[in-house]
Amino acid sequence: MKIPRRTLLKGSLAAAVGYLTGAAAPIASSRATPLVGFTPVPRTASDGRTLLVADEYEVQSFLPWGQPLESDGPDFRWPPTGEAQARQVGIGHDGMTFFPLSSDGRHGLLALNHEFGINPHVIGSRGPSNLDQVRTSQHAHGVSVLEIRETNGAWDLVPDSPYARRIHLNTEVDVSGPAAGHALLANRAANPVMGTLNNCANGQTPWGTYLTCEENFNLYFGSRDRFDPSERQQRYNLHPKGSHYGWHAFDPRFDLGHADYANESNRFGWVVEIDPKAPDAKPVKRTALGRFKHEGATVVEGRDSRAVVYLGDDQRFEFVYKFVSRIGWREAIAAGQSPLDDGTLYAARFDEDGTGIWLPLSMDDPALAEQFEDTADLLVHARLAATTVGATPMDRPEWVAVGPTGDVYCTLTNNTRRKEANAANPMAPNPNGSILRWRDEDDHVGTRFSWDHFLIADDLYQKEDSLGSPDGLWADPEGRLFICTDGDQFEDKPNQLLVADTQTGRLSRLLVGVNGCEITGLAATPDQRTLFVNVQHPGNGDPKVTSFPADDDGKTIPRDCTLAIRRKDGGIVGS
Ligand code: FEO
Ligand code: CA
Ligand code: CA
Ligand code: CA
Repeated sequence: MKIPRRTLLKGSLAAAVGYLTGAAAPIASSRATPLVGFTPVPRTASDGRTLLVADEYEVQSFLPWGQPLESDGPDFRWPPTGEAQARQVGIGHDGMTFFPLSSDGRHGLLALNHEFGINPHVIGSRGPSNLDQVRTSQHAHGVSVLEIRETNGAWDLVPDSPYARRIHLNTEVDVSGPAAGHALLANRAANPVMGTLNNCANGQTPWGTYLTCEENFNLYFGSRDRFDPSERQQRYNLHPKGSHYGWHAFDPRFDLGHADYANESNRFGWVVEIDPKAPDAKPVKRTALGRFKHEGATVVEGRDSRAVVYLGDDQRFEFVYKFVSRIGWREAIAAGQSPLDDGTLYAARFDEDGTGIWLPLSMDDPALAEQFEDTADLLVHARLAATTVGATPMDRPEWVAVGPTGDVYCTLTNNTRRKEANAANPMAPNPNGSILRWRDEDDHVGTRFSWDHFLIADDLYQKEDSLGSPDGLWADPEGRLFICTDGDQFEDKPNQLLVADTQTGRLSRLLVGVNGCEITGLAATPDQRTLFVNVQHPGNGDPKVTSFPADDDGKTIPRDCTLAIRRKDGGIVGS
């Protein structure tokens, strides 16, 4: 069933909205030069073996999985040892941010997430048979901080950088905010809090730090013994047979049934802050932002300089959240506090009339005070709190981007299990996804908003600007929206990167990946002359599908890597 979609909205978006070729445009453009002027890659052009980019562009790959960080570091040998992998770029390249070190923007630090790598690709077998294989897998995950530079038109790693580091499952981290030091995060083993995993999308704070988001943490926990997960654990899909990695056979931290590590799984599912320019500073888990399967953490400066963080929980029927700091970020930083430790977490309710409300998740709500012991308990179980207050179950919220007009965009990637549509999720089932748009009152800090559909992929699926399962998202300062896909595309074509002109709603295909890969992660240099984007799991790790970025030979293992995309004429990427 399909609910008819509104063509008019209330509130600030109302005057502006109209449906064009599938994507909705807020304002009629009066510009002489279009925002997006390149020749799109035709929908059917890809053979799946070759990376394609629009004619006006050039593309280069670098930072492959396994590249050593040091000049005398271990070269990539497949499969890597645990020791080698800890000194090499990880796998599963995903969200990333570029932090410039030079005023010309040609030199900087890239903080890069390593979301996941399946066992056959990373360790060469379906499951680990010893602890070193577990360590290889653990060290392939996490984050890399890499110094990079463009020389003679080519980007590359700067080896032996004082900033370079790998953060993985065995890196000590701190915990801050309301759940820090709480019994729910303590184990009988008294082991320190270590590591980050399934680092999906990201965020960047106005105070110069990187946010990395822990998504499907449940997939790393299992149990060798019979273990009955609690109702609350089940809501986070923790299950004795739920591990895709088998770490629990050799590392008891990941054994749900091990009495010494009973709360280890509560230590994951957070947003983690990293200072890329302070290589000795520990990453910090910011618990005020709630525990769920965090996709990304998009930060904007709201009214009174308050830090506003938009957050998606990527699971079918889970929610969209935002966090608003209590005081302005400058004031908090000046007082030696983190703006991300003190504030309010909200979950979104999207109403039929095109308005919505941010519902606070606070112990001031009598229903939540009844349900939870304290604020830490609430935040550890944020999903349950959001259900109690009546947030709208969504079709897998992925990335959030904020455009120059303050409009907020969120990819809802798909939901094949939806049986009942609602206004914000109008397709049942929803195999191809959508992009939702809203505008918050009160410069992002208000509790009310108006919303509409920017794009419903089903409307475009058979058209030239076809896309399916939108996921990665970035809005540039001029109003171009970069959209990455992760899922089925029309006629089984590979995943792609499109650019939408948010003023006209037009979509143009900038890049098409190779078979089996996801295109994800978006970071630009400050001059917008280089856009970095990632090729994740090319060929799903199978050399018979592709050897990307090496030439196909049927046997060279494909490697996740980063692409640098530039206009041949040196212009702004996306134009
Ligand atoms: Fe890691 Fe929801 O993508
Ligand atoms: Ca994603
Ligand atoms: Ca996805
Ligand atoms: Ca993905």
